[in-house]
Amino acid sequence: MALNDPNQVAPDAPGAEWWRHAVIYQVYPRSFADADGDGVGDLPGITAKLPYLRDLGVDAVWISPFYMSPQKDHGYDVSDYCDIDPLFGTLEDADTLIATAHELGLRIIADLVPNHSSDQHEWFQAALAAAPGSPERARYLFRDGRGPQGQEPPNNWRSVFGGNAWTRVAEHPDGRDDDPQWYLHLFDSTQPDFDWRNPEVGDLFEEVLRFWLDRGVDGFRVDVAHGLLKEESLRDQVVEEGEEPDSAAPINEERSMVERTLRDEPMWDQPEVHDVYRRWHDVLAEYDGDRMLVAEAWTQTPESMARFVRDDEMSQAFNFSWLLAPWSAEAFEGVITGTFAALADVQASPTWVLSNHDVVRHVTRYGGGAQGLARARAATLTMLALPGSSYVYQGEELGLEQVDVAPEHRQDPSYLRTGEVGRDGCRVPMPWSGEKPPFGFGPGEGQPWIPQPEGWADLTVAAQQVDPDSTLAFYQRALAARRALAGTTSEVEMLDLGTDVLAFRRGPVTVVLNCGTTPVSRPRGEVVASSGPVSDLLPGDTAVWVRD
Ligand code: NOJ
Repeated sequence: MALNDPNQVAPDAPGAEWWRHAVIYQVYPRSFADADGDGVGDLPGITAKLPYLRDLGVDAVWISPFYMSPQKDHGYDVSDYCDIDPLFGTLEDADTLIATAHELGLRIIADLVPNHSSDQHEWFQAALAAAPGSPERARYLFRDGRGPQGQEPPNNWRSVFGGNAWTRVAEHPDGRDDDPQWYLHLFDSTQPDFDWRNPEVGDLFEEVLRFWLDRGVDGFRVDVAHGLLKEESLRDQVVEEGEEPDSAAPINEERSMVERTLRDEPMWDQPEVHDVYRRWHDVLAEYDGDRMLVAEAWTQTPESMARFVRDDEMSQAFNFSWLLAPWSAEAFEGVITGTFAALADVQASPTWVLSNHDVVRHVTRYGGGAQGLARARAATLTMLALPGSSYVYQGEELGLEQVDVAPEHRQDPSYLRTGEVGRDGCRVPMPWSGEKPPFGFGPGEGQPWIPQPEGWADLTVAAQQVDPDSTLAFYQRALAARRALAGTTSEVEMLDLGTDVLAFRRGPVTVVLNCGTTPVSRPRGEVVASSGPVSDLLPGDTAVWVRD
């Protein structure tokens, strides 16, 4: 299980790039910190909290989209890729954020959304105004419908957010009533998909990349990286008898990358998409300082994920397999060995992630309450011992749980399209201080854009900073222990310490996670980190790092 070892190579050589072993903290800007008091987070709010992130001990900050956007999917619907939405601030605020981060030794990763734009993007507005067959329409996927008068959608694809993946132009508020065509949107109807077979689209995104690279960002998280190219014919998806067509759903936890059977997916993971990333790789290579690309690619197999991180493509791809796994030592071991095996041929370094803005927070996934929190801390500590980079989602360092957001406050477009609960519960604004909402999220009184639970006073950053047993203090200790491990080999040896126990060795450190309920004996040696109290025995739902 050999991986590129950052310590075996000269600092500037390939293999020594910072992102190979970084801890990257995800900020969801609407919900991180609100400097201007409008109830929605913003860039000056993030800048003010950068010292907190430096003290937490992360290396980089990935910020979900802050570009000009009607906010139908909270920024993942971009109407201008080279400007900041006034809700979040100005380009000057972005420059200040990037410069402040760099002064503090933090890198900034921007979130690029190339699969689709907002329907308010000037290109889509021009396309609606233009005639079928025009160059304006050719930047998106407009097609005639099927059936009499083209009343049926061009194919059977479903939106990831539920419902049809096609909307008739005549039904768009800005479209003409007599327009016969339909347009494709794999997400909301306000997020039309670009036609990446049109060279104009590639040229636009090269400009966008350069715009942000010139401003100093250290990399990009690439949204829906597996979706840019569709099978050219836009043919129907072939489905098993009795099954409904269904676009791969990034928010559907049941579709584990490890376990699922392969489906026909003409909308995802087409071979031509890799040409896009080869071009971007070359663009980034012109810039100094190891700029990086991380793919959000919900591919069907580990092998297809590995294709995104070949030497001349992206730096990393999110590895969602742990996030999709149940609480089980066996499942976690499968995730770890499967990840290393998939990457062996491409020599890319792995990534690990337990929570993000699209999934139920891991405290809640592991059962919630005290047990969910104990398990979440144990899983986090185990993940942080692994070579590669780890992603931490804002609020997990406070042990936040998924919030049951009242229906009248839910704003996720997938909820609005399907009536199913959606992702608002992991996007509730951060509690920073104080006894009642907005818990220091912004100046003033009152609830922010998604209301915070009244009972969060004990979970605020301020409350946890003065409690050595808090989850925040645990994250700080765990990240410090991880830094101490940075000089260690990237070789990982799995150990068999019994059923319900995940154990591995990395250099001088043995990591043991007890997923069972019965305490197990732990290896002798110095405890360098633990997710909860340990003695000579390791209790259930607890992880420990022991040094020889
Ligand atoms: C994945 C993002 O993480 C999610 O939040 C967004 O809704 C979709 N892509 C569409 O951009």
